[in-house]
Amino acid sequence: MNPIKQFEKPKAKDSEIRMEGEYYKTKESVEEYIRLAKDVNGKQLIEKLQHVLEPGSTLLEIGSGPGTDWKILNKSYRVTGSDSSIAFLNHLKTENPNQTFLELDATTLRTDTKFDGLYSNKVLHHLNENELVDSVKRQHEVLQTKGVICHSFWKGKGSEIFKGLFVKYHTKESLKEAFGPYFKILSIESYTEFDQGDSLVLLGAKN
Ligand SMILES: C[S@@+](CC[C@H](N)C(=O)[O-])C[C@H]1O[C@@H](n2cnc3c(N)ncnc32)[C@H](O)[C@@H]1O
Repeated sequence: MNPIKQFEKPKAKDSEIRMEGEYYKTKESVEEYIRLAKDVNGKQLIEKLQHVLEPGSTLLEIGSGPGTDWKILNKSYRVTGSDSSIAFLNHLKTENPNQTFLELDATTLRTDTKFDGLYSNKVLHHLNENELVDSVKRQHEVLQTKGVICHSFWKGKGSEIFKGLFVKYHTKESLKEAFGPYFKILSIESYTEFDQGDSLVLLGAKN
């Protein structure tokens, strides 16, 4: 999720360029994100995931960030948290000293472990079109047979640079196009994070 959007409206830019911003990478920005996101979580997404993934299954969370959803997921699943940001990983390891967190980029998902499910909450919108295609292929590879995915996105069209980070908006159509070749789309539903119907959640099963 992106609670910062509540406080600062960026200028829209119609670009597919990925900018490697520092936001999420510095201790200060991570502390700011954690403060702004303290009252939000992915409970409504996790309830949807629970309809398609049995308790006790193994689950990889991509982009765990502050670890709020990781904590909720941990009650039902054998969760591995991950993030591409060392600053977030340091936070996660400090808060949960006996747990394993992986340094993983959503595009490449460099792990040999296979999971029953993959989950991300407002993470894959940082990938451009080509990166999302690569990510979807890797997601298919790191899933067990009959594995499932649950991912959330900001709903809309186009892309922008927000706090130096690339953000791509998605429609039901763009998600079907990206995930359809590798996954049976179980559902793509609108939900509300801040503004009415501002988000989409996709559930899919490995083809
Ligand atoms: C908007 S935050 C969401 C964090 C968390 N899922 C939540 O709901 O609070 C985006 C998270 O995705 C991570 N992230 C951004 N790009 C990534 C990438 N390419 N691979 C993995 N994680 C990424 C960031 O470091 C950050 O933790």
